[in-house]
Amino acid sequence: MRKNYSLLHQFISLALLLSQAKSDPDPLQDYCVADTKTPRSFYFNSAPCINPELAVSSHFTTSVLSKPGNTRANPFGFNVTLTNTANLPGLNTLGLTMARVDIATNGLVPPHIHPRASEVTICLKGLLLVGFVDTSNRIFTQQLKPGESFVFPKSLIHFLYNYDSRAPAVALSGLSSQNPGAQIVSLASFTSKPPIETEILKKGFQITDRDVARIRNNLGG
Ligand SMILES: *[C@@H]1O[C@H](CO)[C@@H](O)[C@H](O)[C@H]1NC(C)=O
Repeated sequence: MRKNYSLLHQFISLALLLSQAKSDPDPLQDYCVADTKTPRSFYFNSAPCINPELAVSSHFTTSVLSKPGNTRANPFGFNVTLTNTANLPGLNTLGLTMARVDIATNGLVPPHIHPRASEVTICLKGLLLVGFVDTSNRIFTQQLKPGESFVFPKSLIHFLYNYDSRAPAVALSGLSSQNPGAQIVSLASFTSKPPIETEILKKGFQITDRDVARIRNNLGG
């Protein structure tokens, strides 16, 4: 009896979870190859579709993720290459994005959020320390070797760090939105335009005027 109850309970929990794990709205047709050429005079939640009869295989393929991003120009030592409606027009309305993340030796994808997507990442090369913090401030972290994956639930603060000081790392992520959005916590706090009032940052981070100025300066704000 007790066992049955717990099975039922698990089933209901799973059903609830699945019904709530929605990505972008469902498409009402097989595909909606993005029309990225026609100038837009109005805003649309995704790109308009081309005539389905004009769709060809190349709309559904891309090689953008085959090339490493340049991590040198980035102060944190990472570079993200994303699929989007321009480089993979067949992905339009399907609620998906793929990301190639190149991370230099000891490089960091600093704590950030994707407001519209959960993310599952697989380490392809190198050694990664990944993690996220939930809304009760608990941290979940893991070291990943090539072939190992980790999930970052939607909208939670997460990071990826290459803890190897000798070799670069590569990760590949799938995200549950065609426009996941990304907000790096440190940059949003210290380099917004116009800046957040210094008083807010001093109180919020329990730091001094000098600290605020220094962090802003370090982050190029
Ligand atoms: C990421 O790498 C690409 C390809 O090398 C480069 O064009 C781009 O400027 C890099 N982005 C950043 C933010 O450094």
